[in-house]
Amino acid sequence: MTNRKRPEDLRSHRWLGVSDLRSFGHRSRLRQVGYDTTDWAGRPVIGIINTWSDINPCHTHLRQRAEEVKRGVLQAGGFPIELPAMSLAEVMVKPTTMLYRNFLAMETEELLRSHPIDGAVLLGGCDKTTPGLIMGAISMGLPSIYVPAGPMLRGNWQGKALGSGSDVWKYWDEKRAGNITEAEWDEIENGIARSFGTCMTMGTAATMMAIAEAMGLSLPGASSIPAADSNHPRMATQSGRRIVEMVWEDLTTEKVLDQAAFENAIKVHMAMGGSTNAIIHVVAMAKRAGVQISLADFDCISRTVPVIANVRPSGAFLMEDFFYAGGLRALMSELRELLDLNCMTVTGRTLGENIEGAKVHLRDVIHPMSDPISSEPATGVLFGNLAPRGAIIKPSAVEKRLLKHRGPALAFEDYNHMASQIERDDLDVTADHVLVLKNSGPKGGPGMPEWGMMPIPRKLVKQGVRDMLRVSDARMSGTSYGACVLHVSPESYVGGPLAFVKTGDPIEVDVAARSINLMIPDEEMARRKAAWVPPPPRYQRGYGAMFSAHIGQADEGCDFDFLSAHLPVPEPEIH
Ligand code: FES
Repeated sequence: MTNRKRPEDLRSHRWLGVSDLRSFGHRSRLRQVGYDTTDWAGRPVIGIINTWSDINPCHTHLRQRAEEVKRGVLQAGGFPIELPAMSLAEVMVKPTTMLYRNFLAMETEELLRSHPIDGAVLLGGCDKTTPGLIMGAISMGLPSIYVPAGPMLRGNWQGKALGSGSDVWKYWDEKRAGNITEAEWDEIENGIARSFGTCMTMGTAATMMAIAEAMGLSLPGASSIPAADSNHPRMATQSGRRIVEMVWEDLTTEKVLDQAAFENAIKVHMAMGGSTNAIIHVVAMAKRAGVQISLADFDCISRTVPVIANVRPSGAFLMEDFFYAGGLRALMSELRELLDLNCMTVTGRTLGENIEGAKVHLRDVIHPMSDPISSEPATGVLFGNLAPRGAIIKPSAVEKRLLKHRGPALAFEDYNHMASQIERDDLDVTADHVLVLKNSGPKGGPGMPEWGMMPIPRKLVKQGVRDMLRVSDARMSGTSYGACVLHVSPESYVGGPLAFVKTGDPIEVDVAARSINLMIPDEEMARRKAAWVPPPPRYQRGYGAMFSAHIGQADEGCDFDFLSAHLPVPEPEIH
Protein backbone atom coordinates (compact mmCIF):
# COMPACT_ATOMS: atom_id res chain seq x y z
CA MET A 1 0.00 0.00 0.00
CA THR A 2 1.48 3.36 -1.05
CA ASN A 3 0.32 5.51 1.87
CA ARG A 4 1.50 3.10 4.50
CA LYS A 5 2.44 4.83 7.71
CA ARG A 6 5.99 4.94 9.01
CA PRO A 7 6.74 4.38 12.73
CA GLU A 8 7.39 8.11 13.22
CA ASP A 9 3.89 8.85 11.83
CA LEU A 10 2.23 6.89 14.63
CA ARG A 11 0.17 8.90 17.08
CA SER A 12 1.93 7.13 19.97
CA HIS A 13 5.30 8.37 18.66
CA ARG A 14 4.57 11.73 20.37
CA TRP A 15 4.47 9.91 23.73
CA LEU A 16 7.11 7.22 23.24
CA GLY A 17 9.31 7.93 20.24
CA VAL A 18 10.74 11.38 20.97
CA SER A 19 13.48 12.38 23.37
CA ASP A 20 12.34 14.88 25.98
CA LEU A 21 11.43 15.10 29.63
CA ARG A 22 7.85 13.86 29.24
CA SER A 23 8.72 10.92 26.99
CA PHE A 24 11.29 9.89 29.62
CA GLY A 25 8.36 9.74 32.06
CA HIS A 26 6.21 7.70 29.70
CA ARG A 27 8.91 5.18 28.92
CA SER A 28 10.27 4.85 32.43
CA ARG A 29 6.75 4.11 33.70
CA LEU A 30 6.21 1.48 31.03
CA ARG A 31 9.47 -0.08 32.23
CA GLN A 32 7.92 -0.01 35.72
CA VAL A 33 5.21 -2.38 34.40
CA GLY A 34 7.90 -4.69 33.07
CA TYR A 35 7.97 -3.65 29.41
CA ASP A 36 11.05 -2.52 27.57
CA THR A 37 11.89 -0.87 24.25
CA THR A 38 11.26 -4.09 22.33
CA ASP A 39 7.60 -3.94 23.40
CA TRP A 40 6.88 -0.51 21.97
CA ALA A 41 9.60 0.78 19.64
CA GLY A 42 8.21 1.20 16.15
CA ARG A 43 5.02 -0.71 17.03
CA PRO A 44 1.44 0.57 16.82
CA VAL A 45 -0.12 0.81 20.28
CA ILE A 46 -3.51 -0.88 20.23
CA GLY A 47 -6.07 0.16 22.85
CA ILE A 48 -8.43 -2.69 23.73
CA ILE A 49 -11.52 -1.05 25.17
CA ASN A 50 -13.04 -3.81 27.29
CA THR A 51 -16.58 -3.64 28.69
CA TRP A 52 -16.08 -6.77 30.82
CA SER A 53 -17.35 -6.70 34.40
CA ASP A 54 -18.18 -9.24 37.09
CA ILE A 55 -21.84 -8.25 36.93
CA ASN A 56 -22.29 -8.41 33.16
CA PRO A 57 -23.20 -12.01 32.27
CA CYS A 58 -23.22 -11.21 28.55
CA HIS A 59 -19.55 -10.20 28.76
CA THR A 60 -18.17 -12.86 31.14
CA HIS A 61 -15.84 -14.14 28.42
CA LEU A 62 -14.49 -10.73 27.40
CA ARG A 63 -11.78 -10.88 30.03
CA GLN A 64 -10.40 -13.94 28.22
CA ARG A 65 -11.19 -12.52 24.76
CA ALA A 66 -9.03 -9.49 25.54
CA GLU A 67 -6.11 -11.90 26.03
CA GLU A 68 -6.92 -13.49 22.67
CA VAL A 69 -7.01 -10.07 21.00
CA LYS A 70 -3.64 -9.28 22.59
CA ARG A 71 -2.20 -12.50 21.14
CA GLY A 72 -3.24 -11.34 17.67
CA VAL A 73 -1.85 -7.85 18.21
CA LEU A 74 1.49 -9.28 19.32
CA GLN A 75 1.60 -11.72 16.39
CA ALA A 76 1.19 -8.78 14.01
CA GLY A 77 3.83 -6.63 15.68
CA GLY A 78 1.67 -4.30 17.77
CA PHE A 79 1.73 -3.34 21.44
CA PRO A 80 -1.63 -4.15 23.13
CA ILE A 81 -2.93 -2.07 26.03
CA GLU A 82 -6.21 -3.07 27.68
CA LEU A 83 -8.38 -0.20 28.95
CA PRO A 84 -11.51 -1.09 30.98
CA ALA A 85 -14.71 0.87 30.28
CA MET A 86 -18.24 1.01 31.64
CA SER A 87 -19.88 -2.38 31.19
CA LEU A 88 -23.64 -1.56 30.95
CA ALA A 89 -25.18 -4.94 31.79
CA GLU A 90 -28.65 -4.55 30.32
CA VAL A 91 -30.55 -6.48 32.98
CA MET A 92 -28.67 -5.07 35.98
CA VAL A 93 -28.22 -1.34 35.39
CA LYS A 94 -31.06 0.88 36.65
CA PRO A 95 -33.08 2.84 35.84
CA THR A 96 -31.93 1.85 32.35
CA THR A 97 -28.66 1.41 30.46
CA MET A 98 -29.87 4.01 27.97
CA LEU A 99 -29.15 6.62 30.62
CA TYR A 100 -25.48 5.66 30.28
CA ARG A 101 -24.95 4.89 26.57
CA ASN A 102 -23.59 8.39 26.00
CA PHE A 103 -21.46 8.07 29.13
CA LEU A 104 -19.77 5.01 27.59
CA ALA A 105 -19.39 6.85 24.29
CA MET A 106 -17.65 9.73 26.06
CA GLU A 107 -15.48 7.34 28.04
CA THR A 108 -14.44 5.44 24.90
CA GLU A 109 -13.58 8.62 23.02
CA GLU A 110 -11.60 10.15 25.86
CA LEU A 111 -9.77 6.92 26.80
CA LEU A 112 -8.51 6.77 23.23
CA ARG A 113 -7.73 10.47 23.01
CA SER A 114 -5.88 10.83 26.29
CA HIS A 115 -3.61 7.79 25.89
CA PRO A 116 -0.88 6.98 23.34
CA ILE A 117 -3.20 4.84 21.22
CA ASP A 118 -2.90 4.29 17.46
CA GLY A 119 -5.81 1.91 16.88
CA ALA A 120 -8.71 0.51 18.87
CA VAL A 121 -10.32 -2.87 19.41
CA LEU A 122 -13.80 -2.46 20.87
CA LEU A 123 -15.06 -5.37 22.99
CA GLY A 124 -18.81 -5.27 23.64
CA GLY A 125 -22.17 -6.66 22.67
CA CYS A 126 -24.75 -6.27 25.43
CA ASP A 127 -27.28 -3.78 24.01
CA LYS A 128 -25.97 -0.22 24.57
CA THR A 129 -22.31 -1.21 24.70
CA THR A 130 -22.16 -1.59 20.91
CA PRO A 131 -23.46 1.88 20.00
CA GLY A 132 -21.66 3.45 22.97
CA LEU A 133 -18.29 2.03 21.89
CA ILE A 134 -18.84 2.82 18.22
CA MET A 135 -20.08 6.38 18.80
CA GLY A 136 -16.97 7.10 20.86
CA ALA A 137 -14.68 5.47 18.30
CA ILE A 138 -16.27 7.41 15.44
CA SER A 139 -15.77 10.71 17.24
CA MET A 140 -12.14 9.86 18.02
CA GLY A 141 -11.55 8.77 14.42
CA LEU A 142 -8.75 6.22 14.86
CA PRO A 143 -8.63 2.92 12.96
CA SER A 144 -11.05 0.78 14.99
CA ILE A 145 -12.39 -2.75 14.84
CA TYR A 146 -15.36 -4.03 16.77
CA VAL A 147 -15.28 -7.51 18.35
CA PRO A 148 -18.87 -8.56 19.12
CA ALA A 149 -19.43 -10.59 22.30
CA GLY A 150 -21.69 -12.99 20.39
CA PRO A 151 -24.96 -14.58 21.47
CA MET A 152 -25.28 -17.15 24.26
CA LEU A 153 -26.42 -20.72 23.55
CA ARG A 154 -30.13 -21.52 23.13
CA GLY A 155 -32.14 -21.79 26.32
CA ASN A 156 -33.79 -25.11 27.15
CA TRP A 157 -36.88 -26.07 29.14
CA GLN A 158 -38.48 -29.47 28.99
CA GLY A 159 -36.98 -30.03 25.54
CA LYS A 160 -38.23 -26.69 24.20
CA ALA A 161 -35.82 -23.98 23.03
CA LEU A 162 -36.10 -20.86 25.17
CA GLY A 163 -35.25 -17.37 23.91
CA SER A 164 -34.02 -14.50 26.10
CA GLY A 165 -36.67 -11.94 26.85
CA SER A 166 -39.26 -13.13 24.32
CA ASP A 167 -40.00 -16.35 26.22
CA VAL A 168 -39.81 -14.56 29.56
CA TRP A 169 -42.68 -12.29 28.51
CA LYS A 170 -44.56 -15.22 26.98
CA TYR A 171 -44.35 -17.55 29.99
CA TRP A 172 -44.86 -14.71 32.49
CA ASP A 173 -48.29 -14.12 30.94
CA GLU A 174 -48.99 -17.87 31.14
CA LYS A 175 -48.02 -17.76 34.81
CA ARG A 176 -50.27 -14.73 35.38
CA ALA A 177 -53.08 -16.62 33.68
CA GLY A 178 -52.47 -19.58 36.01
CA ASN A 179 -51.33 -21.88 33.18
CA ILE A 180 -47.90 -22.77 34.57
CA THR A 181 -46.81 -23.53 38.14
CA GLU A 182 -44.25 -21.88 40.39
CA ALA A 183 -42.03 -24.97 40.03
CA GLU A 184 -42.17 -24.77 36.23
CA TRP A 185 -41.36 -21.06 36.38
CA ASP A 186 -38.31 -21.98 38.49
CA GLU A 187 -37.23 -24.52 35.85
CA ILE A 188 -37.46 -21.79 33.21
CA GLU A 189 -35.27 -19.53 35.36
CA ASN A 190 -32.66 -22.31 35.43
CA GLY A 191 -32.81 -23.03 31.71
CA ILE A 192 -33.12 -19.73 29.91
CA ALA A 193 -29.52 -18.48 30.17
CA ARG A 194 -27.14 -21.43 29.71
CA SER A 195 -23.84 -19.80 28.76
CA PHE A 196 -22.01 -16.49 28.63
CA GLY A 197 -22.88 -14.24 25.71
CA THR A 198 -25.63 -11.81 24.81
CA CYS A 199 -29.36 -12.46 24.46
CA MET A 200 -29.79 -15.01 21.66
CA THR A 201 -33.06 -13.69 20.29
CA MET A 202 -33.11 -10.86 17.72
CA GLY A 203 -32.92 -8.34 20.55
CA THR A 204 -30.97 -5.13 20.56
CA ALA A 205 -27.69 -6.94 21.14
CA ALA A 206 -27.97 -9.29 18.14
CA THR A 207 -29.33 -6.45 16.02
CA MET A 208 -26.56 -4.01 16.89
CA MET A 209 -23.79 -6.60 16.51
CA ALA A 210 -25.15 -7.38 13.02
CA ILE A 211 -25.45 -3.69 12.19
CA ALA A 212 -21.83 -3.10 13.20
CA GLU A 213 -20.72 -5.89 10.88
CA ALA A 214 -22.97 -4.67 8.06
CA MET A 215 -21.43 -1.19 8.40
CA GLY A 216 -18.03 -2.79 7.89
CA LEU A 217 -16.67 -2.48 11.43
CA SER A 218 -16.17 -6.22 12.22
CA LEU A 219 -14.51 -9.14 10.51
CA PRO A 220 -16.90 -10.95 8.13
CA GLY A 221 -19.25 -13.29 9.98
CA ALA A 222 -18.08 -12.15 13.42
CA SER A 223 -21.46 -11.01 14.71
CA SER A 224 -23.16 -14.39 14.31
CA ILE A 225 -20.64 -16.56 16.17
CA PRO A 226 -22.05 -17.87 19.47
CA ALA A 227 -19.94 -16.62 22.37
CA ALA A 228 -19.16 -20.17 23.52
CA ASP A 229 -18.11 -21.45 20.07
CA SER A 230 -14.37 -21.93 19.50
CA ASN A 231 -14.67 -19.80 16.37
CA HIS A 232 -15.18 -16.88 18.74
CA PRO A 233 -11.70 -16.72 20.30
CA ARG A 234 -10.19 -17.31 16.86
CA MET A 235 -12.16 -14.32 15.55
CA ALA A 236 -10.88 -12.23 18.49
CA THR A 237 -7.27 -13.13 17.68
CA GLN A 238 -7.79 -12.40 13.98
CA SER A 239 -9.24 -9.01 14.93
CA GLY A 240 -6.12 -8.31 16.98
CA ARG A 241 -3.91 -9.13 14.02
CA ARG A 242 -6.02 -7.06 11.65
CA ILE A 243 -6.10 -3.85 13.71
CA VAL A 244 -2.30 -3.60 13.55
CA GLU A 245 -2.42 -3.64 9.76
CA MET A 246 -5.31 -1.15 9.81
CA VAL A 247 -3.09 1.30 11.68
CA TRP A 248 -0.30 0.98 9.11
CA GLU A 249 -2.89 1.39 6.33
CA ASP A 250 -4.49 4.33 8.19
CA LEU A 251 -7.90 2.71 7.64
CA THR A 252 -9.89 4.99 9.93
CA THR A 253 -13.62 4.76 10.78
CA GLU A 254 -14.21 7.73 8.48
CA LYS A 255 -13.03 5.65 5.49
CA VAL A 256 -15.50 2.88 6.38
CA LEU A 257 -18.61 4.75 7.54
CA ASP A 258 -20.21 6.67 4.69
CA GLN A 259 -23.87 7.15 3.74
CA ALA A 260 -23.98 3.83 1.87
CA ALA A 261 -22.56 1.94 4.85
CA PHE A 262 -25.38 3.24 7.06
CA GLU A 263 -27.98 2.43 4.42
CA ASN A 264 -26.60 -1.11 4.18
CA ALA A 265 -26.93 -1.36 7.96
CA ILE A 266 -30.57 -0.28 7.86
CA LYS A 267 -31.34 -2.83 5.13
CA VAL A 268 -29.75 -5.58 7.21
CA HIS A 269 -31.69 -4.36 10.23
CA MET A 270 -34.95 -4.71 8.31
CA ALA A 271 -34.10 -8.14 6.87
CA MET A 272 -33.22 -9.38 10.35
CA GLY A 273 -36.51 -8.09 11.83
CA GLY A 274 -34.23 -6.20 14.20
CA SER A 275 -34.85 -4.34 17.44
CA THR A 276 -36.64 -1.00 17.37
CA ASN A 277 -33.92 0.33 19.66
CA ALA A 278 -31.44 0.14 16.80
CA ILE A 279 -33.20 3.03 15.09
CA ILE A 280 -32.14 5.41 17.85
CA HIS A 281 -28.58 4.07 17.83
CA VAL A 282 -28.15 4.19 14.05
CA VAL A 283 -29.36 7.80 13.93
CA ALA A 284 -26.90 8.68 16.71
CA MET A 285 -23.95 6.87 15.10
CA ALA A 286 -24.69 8.44 11.72
CA LYS A 287 -24.71 11.94 13.20
CA ARG A 288 -21.34 11.28 14.79
CA ALA A 289 -20.06 10.25 11.35
CA GLY A 290 -21.50 13.32 9.67
CA VAL A 291 -24.09 11.24 7.78
CA GLN A 292 -27.73 12.32 7.65
CA ILE A 293 -30.16 9.51 8.50
CA SER A 294 -33.75 10.28 9.50
CA LEU A 295 -36.75 8.25 10.66
CA ALA A 296 -38.20 8.66 7.19
CA ASP A 297 -35.19 6.76 5.78
CA PHE A 298 -36.03 3.79 7.99
CA ASP A 299 -39.64 3.80 6.87
CA CYS A 300 -38.70 4.14 3.24
CA ILE A 301 -36.14 1.30 3.37
CA SER A 302 -38.46 -0.94 5.42
CA ARG A 303 -40.97 -0.90 2.57
CA THR A 304 -38.41 -2.41 0.19
CA VAL A 305 -36.65 -4.97 2.42
CA PRO A 306 -38.56 -8.04 3.62
CA VAL A 307 -37.91 -9.79 6.94
CA ILE A 308 -36.03 -12.98 6.00
CA ALA A 309 -34.36 -13.99 9.28
CA ASN A 310 -36.70 -16.42 11.02
CA VAL A 311 -35.55 -15.49 14.51
CA ARG A 312 -37.65 -14.63 17.57
CA PRO A 313 -39.47 -12.40 18.35
CA SER A 314 -40.57 -11.94 14.70
CA GLY A 315 -39.79 -15.56 13.80
CA ALA A 316 -39.27 -19.00 15.32
CA PHE A 317 -35.54 -19.70 15.74
CA LEU A 318 -32.62 -18.32 17.76
CA MET A 319 -29.22 -16.81 16.96
CA GLU A 320 -27.44 -20.15 17.39
CA ASP A 321 -29.61 -21.52 14.57
CA PHE A 322 -28.88 -18.38 12.55
CA PHE A 323 -25.15 -19.12 12.85
CA TYR A 324 -25.62 -22.71 11.67
CA ALA A 325 -27.71 -21.38 8.77
CA GLY A 326 -24.72 -19.40 7.52
CA GLY A 327 -24.95 -16.30 9.71
CA LEU A 328 -24.90 -12.70 8.62
CA ARG A 329 -22.73 -13.31 5.54
CA ALA A 330 -25.40 -15.68 4.22
CA LEU A 331 -28.19 -13.21 5.00
CA MET A 332 -26.32 -10.37 3.27
CA SER A 333 -25.69 -12.63 0.33
CA GLU A 334 -29.48 -13.05 0.00
CA LEU A 335 -29.81 -9.25 0.09
CA ARG A 336 -26.97 -8.79 -2.40
CA GLU A 337 -29.05 -6.95 -5.01
CA LEU A 338 -30.20 -4.37 -2.41
CA LEU A 339 -26.82 -3.67 -0.80
CA ASP A 340 -24.03 -1.35 -1.89
CA LEU A 341 -21.30 -3.95 -2.25
CA ASN A 342 -18.58 -1.39 -2.87
CA CYS A 343 -18.48 -0.18 0.73
CA MET A 344 -15.04 -0.42 2.34
CA THR A 345 -14.72 -2.52 5.51
CA VAL A 346 -12.14 -3.13 8.23
CA THR A 347 -10.72 -6.01 6.21
CA GLY A 348 -9.44 -3.50 3.65
CA ARG A 349 -11.77 -5.21 1.19
CA THR A 350 -15.29 -4.35 0.11
CA LEU A 351 -18.50 -5.73 1.57
CA GLY A 352 -19.04 -7.58 -1.70
CA GLU A 353 -15.65 -9.29 -1.41
CA ASN A 354 -16.36 -10.18 2.24
CA ILE A 355 -19.57 -12.04 1.41
CA GLU A 356 -18.26 -13.77 -1.70
CA GLY A 357 -19.15 -17.46 -1.59
CA ALA A 358 -21.50 -17.18 1.39
CA LYS A 359 -24.41 -19.65 1.31
CA VAL A 360 -27.58 -20.32 3.26
CA HIS A 361 -27.44 -23.80 4.83
CA LEU A 362 -30.81 -23.88 6.62
CA ARG A 363 -33.60 -22.49 4.48
CA ASP A 364 -36.19 -22.43 7.27
CA VAL A 365 -33.91 -20.09 9.28
CA ILE A 366 -32.85 -17.68 6.51
CA HIS A 367 -35.53 -17.37 3.88
CA PRO A 368 -35.09 -16.11 0.30
CA MET A 369 -36.41 -12.60 -0.36
CA SER A 370 -39.15 -14.16 -2.46
CA ASP A 371 -40.54 -15.94 0.62
CA PRO A 372 -40.32 -13.54 3.59
CA ILE A 373 -41.28 -14.71 7.07
CA SER A 374 -43.80 -11.88 7.42
CA SER A 375 -45.87 -9.91 4.97
CA GLU A 376 -45.33 -6.91 7.26
CA PRO A 377 -42.07 -4.94 7.42
CA ALA A 378 -39.81 -4.86 10.47
CA THR A 379 -40.40 -1.17 11.12
CA GLY A 380 -43.10 1.39 10.54
CA VAL A 381 -42.65 5.07 11.33
CA LEU A 382 -45.92 6.73 12.29
CA PHE A 383 -46.67 10.45 12.25
CA GLY A 384 -49.73 12.43 13.33
CA ASN A 385 -51.00 14.86 15.91
CA LEU A 386 -49.98 12.47 18.69
CA ALA A 387 -46.41 12.09 17.37
CA PRO A 388 -45.47 15.16 15.29
CA ARG A 389 -41.79 14.07 15.15
CA GLY A 390 -42.53 10.40 14.73
CA ALA A 391 -43.17 7.15 16.57
CA ILE A 392 -42.09 3.55 15.86
CA ILE A 393 -43.96 0.28 15.55
CA LYS A 394 -42.74 -3.20 14.60
CA PRO A 395 -45.51 -4.47 12.30
CA SER A 396 -43.90 -7.90 11.85
CA ALA A 397 -44.45 -8.61 15.58
CA VAL A 398 -48.05 -7.29 15.85
CA GLU A 399 -51.38 -9.22 15.85
CA LYS A 400 -52.83 -8.37 12.45
CA ARG A 401 -56.19 -7.11 13.80
CA LEU A 402 -54.32 -4.25 15.51
CA LEU A 403 -52.53 -2.91 12.44
CA LYS A 404 -55.53 -0.63 11.95
CA HIS A 405 -57.31 0.14 15.17
CA ARG A 406 -59.34 2.81 16.90
CA GLY A 407 -60.13 2.57 20.59
CA PRO A 408 -60.51 4.57 23.78
CA ALA A 409 -57.36 5.50 25.68
CA LEU A 410 -56.60 4.12 29.11
CA ALA A 411 -53.99 6.68 30.19
CA PHE A 412 -51.33 6.21 32.85
CA GLU A 413 -49.36 9.22 34.07
CA ASP A 414 -46.18 7.19 34.71
CA TYR A 415 -44.93 3.64 35.23
CA ASN A 416 -45.91 3.48 38.91
CA HIS A 417 -49.44 4.58 38.05
CA MET A 418 -49.64 1.85 35.40
CA ALA A 419 -48.19 -0.80 37.73
CA SER A 420 -50.71 0.08 40.46
CA GLN A 421 -53.65 -0.53 38.10
CA ILE A 422 -52.72 -3.24 35.63
CA GLU A 423 -53.31 -6.26 37.92
CA ARG A 424 -56.71 -5.06 39.18
CA ASP A 425 -59.54 -7.45 38.35
CA ASP A 426 -62.02 -4.53 38.39
CA LEU A 427 -60.03 -2.39 35.93
CA ASP A 428 -62.38 -0.76 33.42
CA VAL A 429 -60.65 -2.06 30.30
CA THR A 430 -61.46 -4.11 27.20
CA ALA A 431 -59.26 -5.62 24.49
CA ASP A 432 -60.17 -2.62 22.31
CA HIS A 433 -58.69 -0.07 24.70
CA VAL A 434 -55.41 1.66 23.85
CA LEU A 435 -53.00 1.64 26.81
CA VAL A 436 -51.09 4.94 27.05
CA LEU A 437 -47.98 5.41 29.19
CA LYS A 438 -46.61 8.92 29.74
CA ASN A 439 -43.38 10.28 31.21
CA SER A 440 -41.19 7.44 29.97
CA GLY A 441 -39.10 9.27 27.35
CA PRO A 442 -35.46 10.42 27.30
CA LYS A 443 -35.96 13.12 29.96
CA GLY A 444 -39.10 11.78 31.61
CA GLY A 445 -38.11 8.14 32.24
CA PRO A 446 -35.42 9.27 32.73
CA GLY A 447 -33.31 7.55 30.06
CA MET A 448 -36.23 6.23 28.00
CA PRO A 449 -36.52 2.84 29.73
CA GLU A 450 -37.84 -0.29 28.03
CA TRP A 451 -41.36 0.07 29.42
CA GLY A 452 -43.13 0.29 26.06
CA MET A 453 -44.37 -3.32 26.05
CA MET A 454 -46.81 -2.59 28.86
CA PRO A 455 -48.26 -5.73 30.42
CA ILE A 456 -51.69 -6.73 29.18
CA PRO A 457 -54.12 -6.10 32.10
CA ARG A 458 -54.41 -9.32 34.11
CA LYS A 459 -58.17 -9.31 33.74
CA LEU A 460 -57.73 -9.58 29.94
CA VAL A 461 -54.85 -12.07 30.12
CA LYS A 462 -57.21 -14.43 31.94
CA GLN A 463 -59.69 -13.97 29.09
CA GLY A 464 -57.02 -15.05 26.61
CA VAL A 465 -56.02 -11.61 25.29
CA ARG A 466 -52.33 -11.59 24.35
CA ASP A 467 -51.96 -8.35 22.37
CA MET A 468 -53.35 -4.82 22.65
CA LEU A 469 -52.49 -1.47 21.16
CA ARG A 470 -50.09 0.33 23.49
CA VAL A 471 -48.64 3.82 23.01
CA SER A 472 -45.75 5.41 24.91
CA ASP A 473 -42.67 7.59 24.64
CA ALA A 474 -40.62 4.68 26.06
CA ARG A 475 -38.56 2.10 24.18
CA MET A 476 -39.12 -1.64 24.36
CA SER A 477 -36.65 -4.48 24.52
CA GLY A 478 -35.73 -5.86 21.11
CA THR A 479 -36.88 -9.21 22.46
CA SER A 480 -40.38 -7.81 22.99
CA TYR A 481 -43.32 -8.03 20.63
CA GLY A 482 -46.88 -6.83 20.22
CA ALA A 483 -48.76 -3.76 19.01
CA CYS A 484 -46.54 -1.30 20.85
CA VAL A 485 -46.16 2.22 19.45
CA LEU A 486 -42.88 3.49 20.88
CA HIS A 487 -40.52 6.48 20.90
CA VAL A 488 -43.39 9.00 20.57
CA SER A 489 -41.63 12.30 19.87
CA PRO A 490 -41.55 14.82 21.35
CA GLU A 491 -41.98 13.07 24.67
CA SER A 492 -44.74 13.91 27.16
CA TYR A 493 -42.33 15.12 29.86
CA VAL A 494 -41.33 18.11 27.71
CA GLY A 495 -44.91 18.86 26.66
CA GLY A 496 -45.34 16.58 23.64
CA PRO A 497 -48.99 15.84 22.75
CA LEU A 498 -48.89 12.50 24.58
CA ALA A 499 -48.99 14.58 27.79
CA PHE A 500 -52.50 15.74 26.93
CA VAL A 501 -54.16 12.32 26.46
CA LYS A 502 -57.01 11.56 28.88
CA THR A 503 -58.67 8.23 29.57
CA GLY A 504 -61.55 7.79 27.16
CA ASP A 505 -60.07 9.88 24.32
CA PRO A 506 -60.25 7.97 21.02
CA ILE A 507 -56.86 7.08 19.51
CA GLU A 508 -56.49 5.84 15.94
CA VAL A 509 -53.49 4.00 14.53
CA ASP A 510 -53.29 3.00 10.88
CA VAL A 511 -49.99 1.28 10.16
CA ALA A 512 -50.56 1.07 6.39
CA ALA A 513 -51.15 4.85 6.33
CA ARG A 514 -48.29 5.30 8.86
CA SER A 515 -50.52 7.49 11.05
CA ILE A 516 -51.27 7.93 14.74
CA ASN A 517 -53.82 10.47 15.91
CA LEU A 518 -55.62 11.59 19.01
CA MET A 519 -59.17 12.07 17.75
CA ILE A 520 -60.09 15.21 19.66
CA PRO A 521 -60.81 18.67 18.22
CA ASP A 522 -57.81 20.93 17.60
CA GLU A 523 -59.26 23.55 19.95
CA GLU A 524 -59.44 21.00 22.77
CA MET A 525 -55.83 19.98 22.11
CA ALA A 526 -54.79 23.66 22.22
CA ARG A 527 -56.73 24.19 25.46
CA ARG A 528 -55.03 21.23 27.14
CA LYS A 529 -51.64 22.40 25.91
CA ALA A 530 -52.17 25.88 27.37
CA ALA A 531 -53.16 24.37 30.73
CA TRP A 532 -50.16 21.96 30.86
CA VAL A 533 -47.73 22.50 33.76
CA PRO A 534 -44.14 21.22 33.22
CA PRO A 535 -43.08 18.63 35.81
CA PRO A 536 -40.17 19.40 38.17
CA PRO A 537 -36.63 18.38 37.03
CA ARG A 538 -35.71 14.74 37.65
CA TYR A 539 -32.22 15.59 38.94
CA GLN A 540 -30.71 18.47 40.93
CA ARG A 541 -27.09 17.42 40.50
CA GLY A 542 -24.64 14.90 39.08
CA TYR A 543 -24.60 13.00 35.81
CA GLY A 544 -28.40 12.92 35.74
CA ALA A 545 -28.54 16.73 35.72
CA MET A 546 -26.07 16.85 32.84
CA PHE A 547 -28.03 14.14 31.02
CA SER A 548 -31.31 16.06 31.41
CA ALA A 549 -29.77 19.30 30.21
CA HIS A 550 -28.23 17.87 27.04
CA ILE A 551 -30.14 14.76 25.91
CA GLY A 552 -31.84 14.87 22.50
CA GLN A 553 -35.21 13.39 21.63
CA ALA A 554 -35.65 9.88 20.20
CA ASP A 555 -35.94 11.03 16.58
CA GLU A 556 -32.53 12.75 17.00
CA GLY A 557 -30.84 9.61 18.36
CA CYS A 558 -30.80 10.64 22.04
CA ASP A 559 -27.21 11.86 21.85
CA PHE A 560 -25.95 14.78 23.92
CA ASP A 561 -26.09 18.02 21.96
CA PHE A 562 -22.41 18.76 22.63
CA LEU A 563 -21.32 15.31 21.40
CA SER A 564 -23.38 14.81 18.28
CA ALA A 565 -21.67 17.46 16.15
CA HIS A 566 -19.19 16.20 13.56
CA LEU A 567 -16.47 18.66 14.56
CA PRO A 568 -12.73 18.25 15.22
CA VAL A 569 -11.34 18.05 18.77
CA PRO A 570 -7.66 18.97 19.27
CA GLU A 571 -5.13 16.31 20.16
CA PRO A 572 -3.90 16.66 23.76
CA GLU A 573 -0.82 18.76 24.35
CA ILE A 574 2.12 16.87 25.86
CA HIS A 575 3.95 19.34 28.08
FE1 FES B 1 -27.07 -8.42 27.66
FE2 FES B 1 -29.60 -8.98 26.61
S1 FES B 1 -28.98 -8.66 28.69
S2 FES B 1 -27.71 -8.65 25.62
